[in-house]
Amino acid sequence: MRSFVHATNPNRVVFGYGTSAQVRQEVERLGRARALVLGSPPLAALGDRVHEALESLAVARFDGAAMHTPVEVTEQAMELVGEHSVDCVVAVGGGSTTGLAKALAWRTGIDQIILPTTYAGSEVTPVLGETAQGTKMTRSDAAILPETVVYDVEFTLDLPVAMSVTSGINAMAHAVEALYSQQTNPVVDGWALESIRLMGRALPAIAADPADVDARAEALHAAWLAGTCLGLVGMGLHHKLCHTLGGSFDLPHADTHTVVLPYAMAYNAPAAPEVMRRIAEALGTDDAPAGVHDLISSLGGPTSLHQLGMAEQDLGTAAESATAKSYPNPREVTTEGVAALLREAWAGNRPASGGRPMAALHRLTEQVVAGFDQAEDPRVRQLLTDLVRHLHRFVADNDVTEGEWQYAVDFLTRTGRMCSDTRQEFVLLSDTLGVSSAVDLLTNSRTPGTTPSAVLGPFYVEGPPTAEHGTDISQGLPGEPLWGDITIVDTEGVPVRDAVVDVWQSNEDGYYDVQLPDLDGPVLRARFRTDEKGRFTFRSIAPSEYPIPDDGPVGSMLDAVGRHPYRAPHVHFMIMAPGRPRLITQLFVAGGAYLDSDAVFGVKDELIVDMPRQHGATPDGRDMDGSWRLLEFTFHIAAEIEQDHGEDT
Ligand code: BEZ
Ligand code: FE
Repeated sequence: MRSFVHATNPNRVVFGYGTSAQVRQEVERLGRARALVLGSPPLAALGDRVHEALESLAVARFDGAAMHTPVEVTEQAMELVGEHSVDCVVAVGGGSTTGLAKALAWRTGIDQIILPTTYAGSEVTPVLGETAQGTKMTRSDAAILPETVVYDVEFTLDLPVAMSVTSGINAMAHAVEALYSQQTNPVVDGWALESIRLMGRALPAIAADPADVDARAEALHAAWLAGTCLGLVGMGLHHKLCHTLGGSFDLPHADTHTVVLPYAMAYNAPAAPEVMRRIAEALGTDDAPAGVHDLISSLGGPTSLHQLGMAEQDLGTAAESATAKSYPNPREVTTEGVAALLREAWAGNRPASGGRPMAALHRLTEQVVAGFDQAEDPRVRQLLTDLVRHLHRFVADNDVTEGEWQYAVDFLTRTGRMCSDTRQEFVLLSDTLGVSSAVDLLTNSRTPGTTPSAVLGPFYVEGPPTAEHGTDISQGLPGEPLWGDITIVDTEGVPVRDAVVDVWQSNEDGYYDVQLPDLDGPVLRARFRTDEKGRFTFRSIAPSEYPIPDDGPVGSMLDAVGRHPYRAPHVHFMIMAPGRPRLITQLFVAGGAYLDSDAVFGVKDELIVDMPRQHGATPDGRDMDGSWRLLEFTFHIAAEIEQDHGEDT
């Protein structure tokens, strides 16, 4: 069971195309009237549009936001805040402009409305990073969180492809690290995966057509989700490493995130295999780190620290400073490990999780699957294809060794050798792994109002002896007597006459006749036919719990995992009526042993039946010395299978 805490950041988001036109309304909504418009020279035109949209509410303008939010720049803007009695900032731009808005809000408490033009995500986090005399300080505070974010897809259309890629991968890094953060929860997981899925799809579309509005909308949506994750949970190795590389080696922020992400993922992959599997699935790839690397390289994004101008001799120092302080990360962070990661990232080698050749495995899987292309029966092709894919994935996910696979082959060989006319070890294997019950559940439980089915088991024998109503199928074997009174009706309650019903069960010691070669002929099994009331009766003995045969490989498996081999006490029924689906099921004795831990997962609540103890004569008038049990049950079977006579009605 998963325990978690979830809290949301209280911000308002307005998302769409042309939403910047609503900026005045948003300022008024906050009860503000004196806005300072923040921007930067490259985005002057967008700044002007916002300025105009604010009309008289724009009282000042500052276009000097700079990277890393230097305090000198903040102080210049602060002067405008004082001079013009500013009560809110409206910021148009990327992380730098948002940073300046946050710095002003942190100092003065004024409200912020942010119109992002990149995928940085900082507009939805309560974190501020500032630099003073070359040193970066980071603080987190509720007052830093912008009140309103106006995402206008139109404002991102001019973001150059190269910056879209690095900014988009920067956002993806937030989502990736959120997934293995200690504080994540199902809500954050959902946002993070959706963000990765959307960004993975949007970036190639943007590279193909930067003016593709739908792709731009998806990327911005992804950025919002990723930023929200970043604002809610702690980040790991990737973010710390990028922080060090940016701070100490002056590498560009989004480019560094882009280069490092696949390698940080490859480093963490062995410790977070399920997260990597989900990311790979979201990206439609086999291997998450390699998939992200391939995505970046296909988009022409930077793929090596070398490309970003980092000197090879600085890698050791970078590894040391990135590991100087410990922090939460799924895999232990060691200086040697990070140094190796940085060497790979410097060279830009395609990462392979744990050095495993996943691409080659992928090719192998596809080659095997292609071998089924010619199968005449499409169902055969489908089943074999999926089986091979699952098996290959099983081998990869579990790093199955040659020794383990050999053991599996030996196990199956022994299972086969154990099989005979009277012993079906493969059925036992399927039953104890719950596969028989899974197939049964999915194929037979689809008609509402019918009695549930249950596994057939290995002890059914075709064509049991036919018997008259009231026959003693135990043929006098020792045990507590049982009187069975069974009725078969359809889902409307209409009796089903002439249904053929096979009944079989074990003896008092838990053995079926086929397990006892000394027994003469079939015992404790018979075939009945229902009368016009849909009914038949029989005499037998009460079933008792019994171990499934456990002297073979299946028994060893149960032993190895500490499972017992017992089945709860039950009687088997197979009901066949013309034109109706066959029902194979079992009735379990209420209060019997192992109902909660049946070795083959066959028990269903509706099949547990009270079989009360009675005294005196049985309903057929036979005097009984001691007590006997009454099994009265009505089976509901599906209505007739509709015949299509091809008539127009
Ligand atoms: C049975 O109930 O006969 C049975 C079912 C599955 C495995 C072994 C026995
Ligand atoms: Fe059984």
